[in-house]
Amino acid sequence: MCGIVGYIGSADVCDVLLSGLRRLEYRGYDSAGIAINSGGELHIVRSVGKVARLAERVAAEWTDALRAGAKAGIAHTRWATHGAPTEENAHPHADQSGRVLLVHNGIIENYGSLRRQLEGRGHTFQSQTDTEVLAHLVGECYRGKLFEAVSQALKHVEGTYGIAVISAAHPGEIVVARNGSPLLVGLCEGAAVIASDASAVIAHTRQVIYLQDGDVAAVRADGVDIRNLDQIPVDRAISQIDWDDTAVEKGGHAHFMRKEIWEQPEALQNTIRGRLDERAGCAILSGLNLSPREMAAVNRIVLVACGTSLYAGMTGRYALEGLAGIPTDAEQAAEFRYRNPIIGPDSMVVAVSQSGETADTLAAVREAHHKGALVAGVCNVVGSTIAREAARGIYLHAGPEIGVASTKAFSSQVLVLVMLALAFGRGRRLSREEGAALCREMAAVPELVRRVLAQDAAIAALAARLAPASSAFFIGRGVLYPAALEGALKLKEISYVHAEGYHAAELKHGPIALLDEQTPVVALLNDVPGRDKMLGNVQECLARHAPVLAVASEGDAEVASLVPDCIFVPRTGVYTTPILAVVALQLLAYHVARLRGCPIDQPRNLAKSVTVE
Ligand code: AGP
Repeated sequence: MCGIVGYIGSADVCDVLLSGLRRLEYRGYDSAGIAINSGGELHIVRSVGKVARLAERVAAEWTDALRAGAKAGIAHTRWATHGAPTEENAHPHADQSGRVLLVHNGIIENYGSLRRQLEGRGHTFQSQTDTEVLAHLVGECYRGKLFEAVSQALKHVEGTYGIAVISAAHPGEIVVARNGSPLLVGLCEGAAVIASDASAVIAHTRQVIYLQDGDVAAVRADGVDIRNLDQIPVDRAISQIDWDDTAVEKGGHAHFMRKEIWEQPEALQNTIRGRLDERAGCAILSGLNLSPREMAAVNRIVLVACGTSLYAGMTGRYALEGLAGIPTDAEQAAEFRYRNPIIGPDSMVVAVSQSGETADTLAAVREAHHKGALVAGVCNVVGSTIAREAARGIYLHAGPEIGVASTKAFSSQVLVLVMLALAFGRGRRLSREEGAALCREMAAVPELVRRVLAQDAAIAALAARLAPASSAFFIGRGVLYPAALEGALKLKEISYVHAEGYHAAELKHGPIALLDEQTPVVALLNDVPGRDKMLGNVQECLARHAPVLAVASEGDAEVASLVPDCIFVPRTGVYTTPILAVVALQLLAYHVARLRGCPIDQPRNLAKSVTVE
């Protein structure tokens, strides 16, 4: 939800921290703050709003001499959970003495009782945040060693955290810790960068250590000392980041979302690279690390996810049932984790998550492990918590996704799930020829997506019809039902139009009451099972004078005569058609938001990965 950066070394500490914050701004952007240790003194600036505002304040308030004297610092960009986005609630927060400063990503669940205990011992608080309680606790545990004070304090804490702590008395040290929220340490020559994710580190190094739950570390310019809360040393591997700095720039596009929509042909090519064996008619998913016998023993699949990833899961379900004949459910992760699901050793739970950090999906993974199910992850961020805890899975290789609205991850997630269905299907009901045909179909998807992107101008023109609306419906059937849900989500989250996705057959059971001239309907009429019934549903909408826009398959004259405002996308197989339809809907939502002047990359009230419940 929030973004944390820390730096210790000889470069301009403020520059490193502010550029790191800019890279993490997509995680939360309602307020920000920075603190440096310069000349043995702590200096702090906090502000409401974007990082740009903070940078202005720093430029106005900190002299060059002060900045030059800094050898270490921490910074934070916030997505408020406890206490409104005000300057008092922005991070860093100080302890009672003001000599310890702390930034935090996560939620301290027992902060209420801790605060009352501390107030009982004479502490006074400046903010409504849970985080300030942690700073006071560290200050209270301090006995000359910051590393030990942080470890001691965390023993009293329940909840999730990624924290970075500095103290006036320890200019050469930043103490960090994680439990449930992502945190990594980037290793540089004579320096170190700490961050919530690799996008803030990549400009400095590719050598990173992913901290794990329960880790606390003292980070110094000459090295990192990692221990558990009992101060027992623990060993952590150094990983290599496999993408470069330009990947996190806009590359000439107006928005990251637009760049990522446009990256889909290349991202999808990377997703299938080395995984389609047309001669054997099979998919090679080595990260699954399952023998044919273990795959044959899977009698049920449960896809768990949230948001866009859930809709990708719901789309993949059709392929897993249709191609492999395995009973499959797609479940909202927060529901799955608390529902005491009926799963066992012959079930496979697949956690679908772009960031690999979504709290509810992570908890679903842990629940599945408790139940003895086979667990796999479908993630985009390499080394993310879900990927590590699932311990087997399939990476999307779609490259970093910065725009809060997920786009390229969706299309890669669907393609991965179709490959998974092929892998299971070949062991059950698919012949080599059928498998080979599916390999050819998937190999053609990147080029077909390129052809959808080529219709950008036409889609922008249609978006002008949608932009004035305050609400809209998206309807689909069968494999296109989740695509309708995804189309509505994209429009909702970036343009603030109240869009609802419905299974078209549901309209008559209530929602149709809302239809009138002011409520446009986007109908998914691609030539897959359910199309003919969809034509009837479109007739019902037209009969209520609702403006209808459609997405359909190239050359479909019947649709063209029924719905003049139509986006025609190339024909492909049933299970990959949703990818083409959704790319068209991503562009539609993008242009509606652009026409409405919305902050497309950082929609209000949202954050890229939801690391708290
Ligand atoms: C999608 O545009 C949203 N950003 C959100 O619904 C997202 O899909 C959801 O939070 C899941 O994130 P994940 O894929 O990183 O787990």
